[in-house]
Amino acid sequence: MTTTVASLLDRAPTMSGAEIAASLVPPRQFDDATLDNYRPDPDYPSQAAAVAKVTAFAAAWKPSSGLFSRRRGGDVKPGIYLDGGFGVGKTHLLAALWKLAPGRTYFGTFIEYTALVGALGYAEAVKLLRGATFVAIDEFELDDPGDTMMMTRLLGELVDSGTRIAATSNTPPNALGEGRFAASDFLREIHALADRFDIVRIDGLDYRRRDIEGHAVSLSDAELDTEIRSVTGTVTVDDFDAALRHLASIHPSRYVKLIDGLSAVALRSVHVLDDQTDALRFVAAVDRLYDGQVRVLASGVPLDQVFGAEMLAGGYRKKYLRAVSRLIALTTGS
Ligand SMILES: Nc1ncnc2c1ncn2[C@@H]1O[C@H](COP(=O)(O)OP(=O)(O)OP(=O)(O)O)[C@@H](O)[C@H]1O
Ligand SMILES: [Mg+2]
Repeated sequence: MTTTVASLLDRAPTMSGAEIAASLVPPRQFDDATLDNYRPDPDYPSQAAAVAKVTAFAAAWKPSSGLFSRRRGGDVKPGIYLDGGFGVGKTHLLAALWKLAPGRTYFGTFIEYTALVGALGYAEAVKLLRGATFVAIDEFELDDPGDTMMMTRLLGELVDSGTRIAATSNTPPNALGEGRFAASDFLREIHALADRFDIVRIDGLDYRRRDIEGHAVSLSDAELDTEIRSVTGTVTVDDFDAALRHLASIHPSRYVKLIDGLSAVALRSVHVLDDQTDALRFVAAVDRLYDGQVRVLASGVPLDQVFGAEMLAGGYRKKYLRAVSRLIALTTGS
């Protein structure tokens, strides 16, 4: 059992188009996700209904012969959009669906696909994805009209050539209260593609909170040192501030590589964030840590309390709350 201590600051990843393409698979955390082990909450019937709709979508891929197969796939649209709050299992269902798809398939976040187009150029990205059976897009962003338009055009080309698409909603800004579902915005933004998508709404509670009592673990400096020494594999150790400055120097689409191969990330002297841009970058990093199930060790302010009251009351409230839910899971090892 060996521990390698490193620093995030020494890791400055770049990613080529080929590397991004190779990373278009579900995060490790969803290796075991299937439609069967999704447990619909009886209090929220939309969850069982969502499983039924996703199952129907996947049925078109079942090998079967003759007329029946055609009939079965007949009234299913080529696209499906899973819309809901955080932690209701959207990514779980998306990954389960991806596993049922035969042939050449891709799975990535919206940000990863935009990074792919950024690295390869639009035409090359289309060439790469064209002919795929299935393309899954997690956390479809509607924040940037240019990116949304580009993605809509890309998906249009893919659907026209026979690719089937599944997407999940991202947590939109200004989603306080009634903006909970993003479907109407999604349909409006994707214009002509709208009638190719079935909308599936999933409501419910944050699944991670069903079992976890709500606080991130904060360690004393001595405890932190002990925990660091007990890590098997590579653990980065950095001051929270230095880590935030480093995140600012890297495009968020590369955070996945920044944390690649790490067993744990230790952050010293965590404090409440007062800058929204820092906070959003930290959220993006937490998302990738969560995808990779990289343990987080921290001293200072508990990580579920780094987003101040003002931030939590603002437009990105849901993004912060989701990060809190993920940080509790990553620091408690649950
Ligand atoms: N109904 C469920 N049954 C079994 N596991 C679930 C269920 N809902 C969620 N999970 C599990 O809970 C965790 C969080 O779910 P997931 O990440 O799929 O939610 P999400 O809706 O994509 O949330 P987010 O808004 O954070 O992206 C995952 O590990 C997932 O496998
Ligand atoms: Mg998700």
